[in-house]
Amino acid sequence: MNDFNSLPADFTWGVATAAYQIEGAVAEDGRSPSIWDTFSHLPGKIDNNDNGDVACDHYHRWREDIGLMKQLGVDAYRFSVAWPRVVPGGDGPVNDKGLAFYDELVDGLLEAGITPFPTLYHWDLPQVLQDRGGWPSRDTAEHFATYAAVVAERLGDRVKDWTTLNEPLCSSWIGHLEGTMAPGLTDITAAVRTSYHLHLGHGLATQAIRAAVPGARVGVVNNITTCEPATEREEDVAAAVRADGHTNRWWLDPIHGRGYPQDMVDLYGVDLPIRAGDLDTIAAPLDWLGVNYYFRNVVADDPKGPLPHAKQVYLPGARHTAMDWEVNADGLENILLRLTEDYGPEKIYVTENGSAYPDVVRPDNCVDDPERTQYLDEHLAACSRAARRGVPLAGYFAWSLLDNFEWAYGYDKRFGLVHVDYPTQRRTIKGSGHRYADIVRSARGRGRRAA
Ligand code: GCO
Repeated sequence: MNDFNSLPADFTWGVATAAYQIEGAVAEDGRSPSIWDTFSHLPGKIDNNDNGDVACDHYHRWREDIGLMKQLGVDAYRFSVAWPRVVPGGDGPVNDKGLAFYDELVDGLLEAGITPFPTLYHWDLPQVLQDRGGWPSRDTAEHFATYAAVVAERLGDRVKDWTTLNEPLCSSWIGHLEGTMAPGLTDITAAVRTSYHLHLGHGLATQAIRAAVPGARVGVVNNITTCEPATEREEDVAAAVRADGHTNRWWLDPIHGRGYPQDMVDLYGVDLPIRAGDLDTIAAPLDWLGVNYYFRNVVADDPKGPLPHAKQVYLPGARHTAMDWEVNADGLENILLRLTEDYGPEKIYVTENGSAYPDVVRPDNCVDDPERTQYLDEHLAACSRAARRGVPLAGYFAWSLLDNFEWAYGYDKRFGLVHVDYPTQRRTIKGSGHRYADIVRSARGRGRRAA
C-alpha cells in the first residue's frame, strides 16, 4: 500500500471525462455539429473509422454514471460542457434543452455529494464557428466569452469551480499544425493565431465567469510535462529547450503575465495578433492551475522534422502504456515542482492522469487491470511526494471515469476506471476503480472532509 499521507486532509479526489468523448446524442435536443463531429466522420481520420455519435451514451445514462462515481467514493466530477449543445449557432440564441442537461447533471451530482467541476471548452467548437474562421479568428474568442457567461449565469448558483479551457495546446498544435485532431489543419499561422485567441478567450471567459458567479474559483488546464534531452549533445539539449517552449512556456508564460516566450515567437515566425490590453486580459488572475500529466518528453534534435524540430524518443528499456507512452511517475513529481518554483500558483490540481491498457472482461464479469492499478499507485505516490516538497496540490482527477472515445485512436484505447462494453453500454468497475475507491476511503478515514 503506498503512503499518501502527505496529501492535504481536504484533498479533492475526482474523476474526469469530456463531452464529445462520452455523451453521444450528437443530434439530440438541439445540439449542432462540432468540429469533432465533422472530423470524426472524415474517412481515415479515426482508427476503425470510429466517431462520437453514441460514445458512452452518457447523455442518457448520466444518472447511472453518477451512481458509479458514488461507488468510487469520489468528491468531484470534472466534465465538459458542449458548446454546440448550449449555443448551437456558436453565438446567438441559447438552446434551453442543451443547458437543461447540464442543469440536471449538476443537481444530480450535488444530490450525490459530488462537486461539479465543469470545463467550458474541451475541443468541441460548433462547426458553424469553424465555418466562420474558427479559433484563428478573434471573433471566436469573443463568442466563447458570451457562451461562458450563459453557462455561468445558469449554473453559477450551485457551481463554484470553473475551468475555461482544456489543453489549448492540443487544439492549437495538434488540431492546426500536426492535423491529427479537429479541425485537421497543418498551418503554423493558423496554429499560432489559434493559440493566441484561445488564450484571449480564456481571459475574456474568466472575466465573464467572475462577473456572473461571486466567489467563483477559476482555473485553466494544460498538458504540461518535463522535456529532457535524449543525450547530452548540444543539439539535443537545444531541442529539449524548444520542446519545453512548445509544450510548457508558450502556455504558461502569457497567463502569468510574462507574454509569449521570444525564442518560440522567433521559431514560429508568425506575428501575434496582439491588440492593446489583450495581454492583461490573457493574464487574468487565476485561483488554480490544472495539470494533465501522462508521460515525460524525452527528445532528440530533428532539424528536418516538424516544429519545434524535436522528436520524442522511444525508450526501449522503459515500461509503456498501450499509447506507447512511457510510464514515468517521477516526471509528474518533477513537473509539479517546476510549476511551483517557476510560476508560484495558488493551487494546483492534477486534472488528468491515467493510462490505457487493453482490458479483458472475465467470465465472472471482473476486469483485472494490474498495470493500470500500478500506474495509478505510482502517480499518486508522486503526488504525495510533491505535496511533501511544498507543491500546493489540492486534488487529483483520474482520467477517466469511463472508457471512452480517445480522439484519433477511437475506442481501442481504454483509459477508464470503469470498463464500457460499447455494444451493450454495460459498465463494470475495473480493479483499478476498486483500488481508487480504497485509496479515497482510506484518505477519508484519515480525517478528510466528509462526503
Ligand atoms: C487529453 C485530453 C483527454 C484525453 C486523455 C488521454 O489530455 O488529451 O484531455 O481528452 O482523452 O488525455 O489522451
